Amino acid sequence: MANWLVTGGAGFIGTNFIHHILSIRQDVTVVNFDLLTYAGNPDGLSMYAGNPRYRFIKGDICDRKQVDAALRDNCIDTIVHFAAESHVDRSILGPMRFVMTNVNGTATLLDAARDYWGREGKDIPGEKRFHHISTDEVFGSLKPDEPAWTEASPYMPNSPYAASKAGSDHLVRAYGHTYGLPVTISNCSNNYGPYQFPEKLIPLVILNAVNGKPLPVYGDGQQIRDWLYVEDHCEAIRLILEKGKPGETYNIGGMNQPANLTIVKTICSLLDELVPDPSFCPHEKLITYVQDRPGHDRRYAMDSTKIKRELGWSPKYTLETGLRKTVEWYLANQDFVQKLTDRSDFKNWMDENYTERGGSSK
Ligand code: NAD
Ligand code: DAU
Repeated sequence: MANWLVTGGAGFIGTNFIHHILSIRQDVTVVNFDLLTYAGNPDGLSMYAGNPRYRFIKGDICDRKQVDAALRDNCIDTIVHFAAESHVDRSILGPMRFVMTNVNGTATLLDAARDYWGREGKDIPGEKRFHHISTDEVFGSLKPDEPAWTEASPYMPNSPYAASKAGSDHLVRAYGHTYGLPVTISNCSNNYGPYQFPEKLIPLVILNAVNGKPLPVYGDGQQIRDWLYVEDHCEAIRLILEKGKPGETYNIGGMNQPANLTIVKTICSLLDELVPDPSFCPHEKLITYVQDRPGHDRRYAMDSTKIKRELGWSPKYTLETGLRKTVEWYLANQDFVQKLTDRSDFKNWMDENYTERGGSSK
């Protein structure tokens, strides 16, 4: 059995990744190490209670003692590092938590892995691997005619979130280079799909629309993201763990690059079809232009040629198939989502963010 420590496994991508791995890799045991911040929700994995191949530890990646114990007690040979503060808007209102978790937390994990695999854990059979999940936002913002980012593109992070992820990437690379820690990094574009926390654009728009609330579009809504269905991302990470070379970095993008406004309108049309409630149809009438995000990146696009060529990965979902599946999932899982949105920390955040943005900038 291989023993994998998945940090941040109660978050959006981590939850999807654990489902993916436990269903595809019968030879892997997963230890989910997560602090359960506002963004963490273990309910998405409750079906594994009592499963000998799954264990949950409530722990903080910034706490060296907790990390050491998690590695030692579970004979960990592979670390898949998702845990982070992930929301750009929150990083603008409060950057220090991002530096603490994303930079210090990653450094703590790296140092613990270096010690453990270099000393008592060195006799654990099988290959070791530290895989770090990062973002396309480290590359900054593209002009309309600039080519998509490759692994060789320079880092130019713009938001405190992006800068904290860039810092963590540099630390991972440095631990590989200096200490020979077997590291890989993936930089990925915007994910969407089941279990995403409803502060992010796609789940926020679905839930607001279903409830007849305004759909906030920042600025002119012409910003471009490279949308990737989360299951495709999980497959890419698994392939990197199975076949990727230590020391390498891989870009992962969805090849779906419509403007935000198009995404919002597509969700509205899907809801017109799936929830034809006459009081809210057409859902598009709920679109509300609000003040833009400060320093808002205009365009992201990833060149995934390397991971396609070297590992044979390509996304299976188009935006059409992925968005339909996502909308259907949120409609079928309203109880799960309601539990999150009922929490006072979520309500406070929504109030703070949208009061900050005012009613309408158009
Ligand atoms: P998320 O916010 O949904 O989940 C983050 C998880 O990390 C939560 O479960 C939270 O409880 C946990 N966590 C936070 N601080 C912790 C700490 N100190 N110790 C232990 N656990 C802690 O995030 P996500 O969207 O699933 O993103 C996961 C990773 O992927 C992040 O590193 C993010 O930067 C990266 N990423 C996300 C996207 C995206 O579109 N969501 C795209 C590219 C990269
Ligand atoms: O690009 C990868 C990144 O994607 C990840 O690294 C981050 O962890 C993840 O949160 C995501 O960042 P974004 O800032 O791109 O995601 P968000 O869903 O917050 O916003 C997507 C776009 O939609 C962005 O241009 C801002 C805009 N937006 C967002 C919200 C929440 C709106 O217009 N209205 C909204 O209410």
